[in-house]
Amino acid sequence: MTVDLDIEGLGKSFVVKGKPITVLDGINLEVRDGELLVIVGHSGCGKSTLLKIIAGLEQPTAGRCELNGHEITKPGTDRCMIFQEHRLFPWMSIENNVQFGLKGRPKAERQRISDHLLNLVKLGDFKDAYPSQLSGGMSQRAAIARALATDPEILLLDEPFGALDALTKIELQDELLHIRKQQHNTMIMVTHDIEEAVYLADRIVVMSTRPGRIEEIIDVDLGEHRDRGSNEFAAYKSRVYDHFLRTREVVKAS
Ligand SMILES: Nc1ncnc2c1ncn2[C@@H]1O[C@H](COP(=O)(O)OP(=O)(O)O)[C@@H](O)[C@H]1O
Ligand SMILES: [Mg+2]
Repeated sequence: MTVDLDIEGLGKSFVVKGKPITVLDGINLEVRDGELLVIVGHSGCGKSTLLKIIAGLEQPTAGRCELNGHEITKPGTDRCMIFQEHRLFPWMSIENNVQFGLKGRPKAERQRISDHLLNLVKLGDFKDAYPSQLSGGMSQRAAIARALATDPEILLLDEPFGALDALTKIELQDELLHIRKQQHNTMIMVTHDIEEAVYLADRIVVMSTRPGRIEEIIDVDLGEHRDRGSNEFAAYKSRVYDHFLRTREVVKAS
């Protein structure tokens, strides 16, 4: 099935100490089938809230969010979210973590899926290990394998590599691209790392400060194998930085 995620006029307000605070305002976005869409924006501009609405974990207060023609009102197996911290179950082996969402399926099928995914994320030799025995990068790879087990149409990644050291982060970025090539999921990822956005994204959504609005959507036309040192790469980075500097000045001036 092709993925068609359509966000129209989306808004979200929270009531904090009796006062409404608008976090997202007038978000219009169509996510294309199979694309890797990266959302960047200042801290607190509503990026996580937007992902949670797509995941069905929060409800919008204005507008709509539709997946394949159906309004999203609750979580479903067609969407899966990955967080900065891996959230694996510490009392289960890595293999049992990956098989967790497959309860009720025949044992051989569960085994086949977890073997495939653990090999895909290069943890084939660690299926009997427990989360506490893995490094940060390995745990996050296990979390990705667990998320993929139910074959979600959309993977939602909220700063998934934000807590990793620089070299592990680069490794995981390449693995994410590899996984995507094999599995063809649509991915929506939030990051505050502009280089990561330019390295991974088909399109970058730049958000304004709160209330979060879409400032610009940038098509990243750098092909499959991207060179972080190239002039073209630097040009995309400075285009995104310009937005951040501009919006920061607005905040300072107000
Ligand atoms: N459940 C909630 N109740 C009240 N305020 C919230 C809630 N969730 C998020 N917020 C507020 O909404 C704003 C945006 O949060 P968030 O989406 O987490 O931002 P980001 O991920 O871009 O840093 C923040 O000011 C945050 O405090
Ligand atoms: Mg966030």
